[in-house]
Amino acid sequence: MSCVEGKPCEEARKRRHALAILGLMGLIFLVLSAWSFLDTRGQTLPGDVHYAGFDAVQGKRVFQSYNCMGCHTIVGNGAYFGPDLSKLYGKVGPAWLEAFLPSAGAWPTSGAVKLQLQRKEVAGDAEVDSIDAYLAKYAGANERVERRGGHPTLMPNLPLTRTEIGQLIAFLKYTSAMNTEGWPPKPKVDGLAFSRVAMPAAAHAAAAPMVPGAHAAPTAQLATSPAPAASPVEEGSKLVRDFGCTACHSPDRKQLVGPGWGGLYDADVHLSDGRTVKADDAYLTESIVDPDAKIVAGFSKGAMPSFSGALDAGQVAAIVAYIRSLQGN
Ligand code: HEC
Ligand code: HEC
Repeated sequence: MSCVEGKPCEEARKRRHALAILGLMGLIFLVLSAWSFLDTRGQTLPGDVHYAGFDAVQGKRVFQSYNCMGCHTIVGNGAYFGPDLSKLYGKVGPAWLEAFLPSAGAWPTSGAVKLQLQRKEVAGDAEVDSIDAYLAKYAGANERVERRGGHPTLMPNLPLTRTEIGQLIAFLKYTSAMNTEGWPPKPKVDGLAFSRVAMPAAAHAAAAPMVPGAHAAPTAQLATSPAPAASPVEEGSKLVRDFGCTACHSPDRKQLVGPGWGGLYDADVHLSDGRTVKADDAYLTESIVDPDAKIVAGFSKGAMPSFSGALDAGQVAAIVAYIRSLQGN
């Protein structure tokens, strides 16, 4: 209806009203938009998060360059082949990640986590320095070590350098610290009985035959004689699992993260500096205590952690005896 001359016009008044409200809304929109750029409202910023001198922003670049999101989700993006990583750092802590990432094909053992905890920067960030305190503080690490330590994973070994690992951990520390409003959601599994929940017992039983003779225990012959003391070879075979060496080395010729041990003893080893040395007791001992002293051709420095403070001379000798016992296959 248009206005009739001489009478008060309703329509023009309503139009002014509508325009005024629209203008006010527009103003509120502009002010709020500007404010959202000015204030982080307590949100953690990647530039503020550091781990052992490494930077979370660099870590994001490493995460992208290895296409971790091709298999993992993180803060709501990515693929579902691997588990969500957003909140992992808070659950497992830096030492577990330090042990996992270089040899992702196998789950870390408590020995492997303990070794990482001996590094000052790792213990400093975890704020605990004993393995017991660490596993008590990071329940996720404890659960993974107990349930899966030493067993193979579905994730491939990636050729990550020490620096890249530090940067990735800084990035995971950042995503763990950010406020994701409850993401990822916790799956509700109450009352469901998965067959894999019973895995630990079965897994330990499966692992036992790796110790020569251990599966023969229930025979009458063994029951009547006292348990024989473990030979150095048996002790070595147990140590290499406890300390997580088997995450990187296979007992045959297969290459994992490091060279296979099968047939290594007394063989010629080609080094990255062009020399060739014999894999005798002295070489194997040095490779364990001071891995960077000689680098096998095709591998890089710093890939293997040093076990000098973690293993005593007797334990190193037992491991050398075990490697000596491994033939080609
Ligand atoms: C080809 C797929 C694939 C790629 C690429 C991949 N992962 Fe994984 N990752 C997996 C799978 C699968 C698992 C779970 C393994 C299992 O349960 O056996 C896993 C497990 C993990 C875990 C342990 C998670 C937990 O909850 O215990 C971490 C940490 C991890 N990956 C980090 C990374 C990072 C960092 C990258 C990139 C540098 C990466 N992954 C690239 C497949 C992948
Ligand atoms: C994170 C992976 C990783 C772990 C864990 C690891 N190593 Fe290694 N190891 C390597 C790599 C990579 C090399 C080759 C580069 C070099 O020479 O340092 C290597 C080399 C060796 C060599 C020399 C092999 C050869 O062919 O000459 C021996 C022996 C060895 N490691 C023993 C051990 C023992 C024993 C443990 C456990 C106490 C262990 N490693 C744990 C990665 C690892």
